[in-house]
Amino acid sequence: MSYIEIKDSTKKFKTGDTEIIANDALSFSVEKGELVVILGASGAGKSTLLNILGGMDTNDSGQVIIDGQDISSYSDKKLITYRRYDVGFVFQFYNLVQNLTTKENVELASEIVKNPLDPVETLKEVGLSKRIDNFPAQLSGGEQQRVSIARAIAKNPKILLCDEPTGALDSQTGKQILQILQDRSRKQGSTVIIVTHNSAIAPIADRVIRMSDSKINEVEVNEQPMDIKDIEW
Ligand SMILES: Nc1ncnc2c1ncn2[C@@H]1O[C@H](COP(=O)(O)OP(=O)(O)OP(=O)(O)O)[C@@H](O)[C@H]1O
Ligand SMILES: [Mg+2]
Repeated sequence: MSYIEIKDSTKKFKTGDTEIIANDALSFSVEKGELVVILGASGAGKSTLLNILGGMDTNDSGQVIIDGQDISSYSDKKLITYRRYDVGFVFQFYNLVQNLTTKENVELASEIVKNPLDPVETLKEVGLSKRIDNFPAQLSGGEQQRVSIARAIAKNPKILLCDEPTGALDSQTGKQILQILQDRSRKQGSTVIIVTHNSAIAPIADRVIRMSDSKINEVEVNEQPMDIKDIEW
């Protein structure tokens, strides 16, 4: 059995009389430690899928098996525990708490789990040892995104879910962020899933899942992912 197995996962949204199928019978699998890119145009259903994988939303039907557990059958209480201990989330616009320092932002996450990594060590790992006492507003976009990655990593999660993590950054800074995420998978064996509409990012992934119109078109396994320094956008 694969580390992540999604089987016929469907999610609909109802607004008034209209119903949108955001995820239409998605099926795919991911192995432990892979770097996965989920690629698709705006509205394809990528964030919906990521939110379901992270237990922030639930599907209407189908299975979402993570490390042998079908989280689609979890109660709300079990989902809270899953989100808290097993998932690290990185967002496009960082979502840092503005009136807390870099270190405090990371502590916010590390303090709610049982086996956290040291916040300062984690900030060192993403190259921010000199910025631990700064506030988010004093940091560049790339630095803020590194704080948000440190915050996700410090929880020592099973899976790291990233929704357009480089969407607000220039390509050079974006590549630094991708390198940190790839290192998590290559060196620490974390399973990292990146959602993006930027097809230039796909060649660095071990597995590329292409979505359009709420469906999966293609799953491609890259035997030899490209070096991050060699991609351009
Ligand atoms: N909470 C919601 N209520 C109603 N409709 C929603 C909701 N969330 C998503 N949708 C709809 O589901 C579809 C898929 O949305 P989703 O956010 O998953 O797309 P996406 O691939 O992440 O797009 P983008 O690249 O623009 O972020 C869209 O048509 C969207 O309008
Ligand atoms: Mg989205």
